[in-house]
Amino acid sequence: MNNKKNKLLIYGATGYTGKIIVARAKALHLDFEIAGRDPHKTRQLAAEFEIAYHVFDVNTESAWPKALTNIKVLINAAGPFQFTAAQAMKACLKAGVHYLDISAEMDTYRLAESLDKEAREAGIQLISGAGLFVSYDALVVHLSKMVAEPEYLKIGFRHYGGFSRGSVLSSKNIANLGILVRKNGDIINQPAPKSKTFAFGKEEVECMPTPLGGIILSYKSTGIPNIEEFFSLKLPAIELNQGTTVEHLPEGPTKEERAAGRNGISAEITGRNGQVVSAYVDAPSGYDLTPLSVVAVAHRILNGDFKVGYQSPGSAYREDILKDIPDTYLFDMV
Ligand SMILES: NC(=O)c1ccc[n+]([C@@H]2O[C@H](COP(=O)([O-])OP(=O)(O)OC[C@H]3O[C@@H](n4cnc5c(N)ncnc54)[C@H](OP(=O)(O)O)[C@@H]3O)[C@@H](O)[C@H]2O)c1
Repeated sequence: MNNKKNKLLIYGATGYTGKIIVARAKALHLDFEIAGRDPHKTRQLAAEFEIAYHVFDVNTESAWPKALTNIKVLINAAGPFQFTAAQAMKACLKAGVHYLDISAEMDTYRLAESLDKEAREAGIQLISGAGLFVSYDALVVHLSKMVAEPEYLKIGFRHYGGFSRGSVLSSKNIANLGILVRKNGDIINQPAPKSKTFAFGKEEVECMPTPLGGIILSYKSTGIPNIEEFFSLKLPAIELNQGTTVEHLPEGPTKEERAAGRNGISAEITGRNGQVVSAYVDAPSGYDLTPLSVVAVAHRILNGDFKVGYQSPGSAYREDILKDIPDTYLFDMV
């Protein structure tokens, strides 16, 4: 890899989440540039943060090499990722640039998985799902070490802070999949989905079966052959009232709304001998946690800490990454 490649590039920087990622990168004094497809919004954001910028459409193949010239790691924050991940991954593979995105769309995890050989050959780390699933996967890795042969993972996610417009749009790609689970190593449709109550510290919350990505990411991190995931809310695409278009929704929760509550992740693993262990993570609400997480991973890469090939957050950084995510705590439950 070219030695001058020492910067971070944030593509999709002008989105609701992208802007919070930019602010986090600035707060950590990282050396970074931004990119987006909208000239006006991109220029305005670059001026606000006094940083270099690139304007190009994700599909303009010829624009990527220039934008990636001095770049060591890309954060792709432009979602729905079904329209951007393939192009950005391809550009990173060609340019030898590490790839991260904040997708919650299972198809982009599968895409990253399918590009393992190419990523190894290019000497890059490829992680799709380096947002909310960083602490989620770290929790699973931590817990999986507490039983001899982990066989079953049940994990509940309590989300706080509402949804951005981009998340409402992207959640269609999750809702359309049906209730996927991992059973004996294979991904299948859950024949009889049932809700489950999880404890998040002292609070108990009934969560709905929802495929969140752990069936790919946490399987990569731990190899646990049976994984079921649950969410505290209905996916926003399902909740969207008939006749309401996404354009009429607010861009996302305000800073005050985000600060008014917390996210929780609660996991339970059963070992082959029947031993059950559980733990939970208490973290800032979703749109604060995502930027804190993806920038923590990018920071590691800028410091030379990465594993080549397709990775999940947990396969690359184990539970150690939790130390890098502010205001995020793991508790073992007895
Ligand atoms: N799981 C997680 O950790 C997590 C957390 C937060 C967000 N997300 C996901 O992150 C994505 C972005 O969320 P958001 O809240 O920032 O949404 P948003 O406010 O709608 O922003 C989307 C950004 O992506 C850009 N974009 C969208 N489609 C594009 C395309 N085809 N080509 C180039 N740029 C494109 C938009 O550019 P324009 O402004 O030009 O339209 C905008 O900058 C969503 O998919 C969301 O689900 C995931």
